[in-house]
This record gives sequence, C-alpha cells and structure tokens, in this order.
Amino acid sequence: MKNYIVDDLSESDIGGAVEIWVDQNRRYCGNSAAFPDLWRNNTGGIVGFLQARIQRKAARALRHGHDLCGYLTYDKFPFNGEMSSFVPALAHAVVEEYKEEGYLALYRSVSQEWVDQNIFNHMWTINYNDLKLRAALYDLGFGSYLIDAFACPDDKMDCADSFVITRASESDAGALFELIEESRLYYRATPIFLNREPYQIDDVKKLIGESNVFMAWDEAWDDKKAIGFINVSVSQENNNIDMSLENHGLLDEIGAYIQPGYRGGKGLGKQLLKKAFEYCRNSGVSRVHVDFETANPFANKFWRKYFDPMLLSVRRTINKNVNSIN
Ligand SMILES: CC(C)(COP(=O)(O)OP(=O)(O)OC[C@H]1O[C@@H](n2cnc3c(N)ncnc32)[C@H](O)[C@@H]1OP(=O)(O)O)[C@@H](O)C(=O)NCCC(=O)NCCS
Repeated sequence: MKNYIVDDLSESDIGGAVEIWVDQNRRYCGNSAAFPDLWRNNTGGIVGFLQARIQRKAARALRHGHDLCGYLTYDKFPFNGEMSSFVPALAHAVVEEYKEEGYLALYRSVSQEWVDQNIFNHMWTINYNDLKLRAALYDLGFGSYLIDAFACPDDKMDCADSFVITRASESDAGALFELIEESRLYYRATPIFLNREPYQIDDVKKLIGESNVFMAWDEAWDDKKAIGFINVSVSQENNNIDMSLENHGLLDEIGAYIQPGYRGGKGLGKQLLKKAFEYCRNSGVSRVHVDFETANPFANKFWRKYFDPMLLSVRRTINKNVNSIN
C-alpha cells in the first residue's frame, strides 16, 4: 500500500467506516451461530459509538488517495491503577487488502500520542479469528489477555448429575461469602495476578437477591459443605464493548468457581454450566456470554469446550522509562 495517509476521521467518513467494519465482522464472526449478528445488521450502535469519539478527537482515518480504507478510535481510562488506552472491537477496521500496513500506520499514529502522555498500557480488542491481525499485533509486543466467548444454551450437555446443586438463598450467604473470598485469592495468585475487589457479606446477600447463583454441595460432610458456584444473570442492555445484547445470559459477576479438590475433570463445572444453561432456556434466553483471562489455565480450557471464542483482547506494556531518558 503506497501513498496512504493517516488523518482525523470525520462525520462524513462514518458511512464508509461502518461498511468496512461490517465486512470485517462478517468475515471473522459470521461462522458462529452463537455470536449476535445485530451489530452487523443494525449499525446504529456503531454510528453513535464513532460520533462520540470523533467529537472527542480520538478517531483516526486511513486513506488511500481519496478512499477511506480504515479507521481506529480509542478511549483512555485507568485500568488496574494505570492510565491506559483501549481500542474496543467496534473502534477499528481496515480493508483486508491493506490490513497489516494499514493497522501499523494507524497504531503508529495513535501510540506516539499515548506514550507522549505517559500512557504505557495499550489494550486492543480484535476478532479472535483474525489471525493475521493477531500475528501483526503480537510482533508489536501485544499478548493475549481476555477472551469474550458466546454459546447457545445447549440442552444436550451430556453429564451425570453427580453433585447436589441448589439455587442460593439468603441462608447460604455465609457459605457463598467464603467461596467468593477464596476465589479472589485464586485470581490474585500466579499465574493470573488479577486483583479483584473483596465482597462484604451484604454485597453477597444483595447478589443472591438480585441475580442467580447456583451452589454445589458435598453432602458427605456432616454439615454439608459448599464446594462451588456459578452466577448467571440476564442482561438489560446491549453492551458495545463485549458485544453481548439485551436478554443475553451473562456468566458474571462472580462467574464460576470450584474448590481445588473438586475441579479439573470431575464434571462439576459442566454440571453447574448445565444448570445455568437450563436457567437461560427457561428464561427465554437464546445466547450466553462469558469472558475469561487467557492466563487462567482452568478457564482457558473449560469455556472453550462449550463456547465460541469471538473477541480477543490483547495488551502491550511499553517500557516505563521511555520518556525519562533523553
Ligand atoms: C473453570 C472451572 C469452573 C471448570 O470446572 P471443572 O469442574 O474443573 O470442569 P469439569 O471437570 O466439569 O470439566 C469439563 C470439561 O472440561 C475439561 N477440562 C476441565 N479442566 C480442564 C483442564 N485443566 N485441562 C483440560 N481439560 C479440562 C474436562 O476434561 C471436561 O471435558 P469432557 O466433558 O470432555 O470430559 C473450574 O476448574 C474452576 O473453578 N477453576 C478455578 C476458578 C476459575 O477458573 N473459574 C473460571 C473463571 S472465568
């Protein structure tokens, strides 16, 4: 690609930018029945998204002659205590023909501005199946961080109901509180190193009242013992970052957790997921979303068995001394 330029994206570019995004999304996400096609078919959400970033002067265009052939917009916010830049999935697209050079040109333009502002943590969500873009970003120093995955709540999950699972009620709040705290320590340790906010007992009671938590029990103990949970809620709105829609099942906010002695092949995770899928089907929910850190060895194996990975968020850490040496 020769004679290209990078300049500001303007309102008059939005129609062309949306076309490039839709084409890219169809190419890399069109093969999954679980991924919502609303983002491709009803593009009003993307238009508003781009307008907001154009107004805030956080939107670049890639042009070849007079033709728009790509764009990139971004957000800036504190992430785990560090001011960071973030390019969500709706925030970028480049025509296939110019992909590698085009993305590089766009990234060079915005990343210099970020680093000049001491923003050293760069995050970017791409289509999971776009292997060319993934390879180009890995060469720049990005690495996997998070996957957004989607599933249709399957009614054919083949697993024995070997464990006792109940829907949590207020009297289970104490046992659930302890499991949530245990899960927090699991995420904080190697190899994940994710620091999550602690829950208080009142937060747990509220969660039980407002969401759905299914708990697994080992009844072989004198006083039956809580050994795991899964949390499923039904979304109330379209989410332009993880791309889930209103009335989708969401496996958050405490996700799923099983104690070490009961996880990794005994079938409890599958049985909990079966319960969550059943709940979704009974609530008229046809798609379910989950996200997980790729550094989480259990999650990275487990969810991929039942969900289609659709979005991959990658992250690059810039040398922190780059602006301090003249
Ligand atoms: C993730 C988690 C809920 C999965 O539950 P689990 O009880 O370990 O998984 P299961 O035993 O039900 O396994 C289900 C399937 O995944 C496979 N699987 C599970 N863990 C695996 C691993 N580490 N490696 C390879 N395969 C694995 C099993 O072989 C099984 O496949 P099959 O149906 O073909 O036999 C559980 O491991 C856990 O709580 N991990 C720690 C917390 C966590 O990571 N939570 C998720 C946060 S996003």
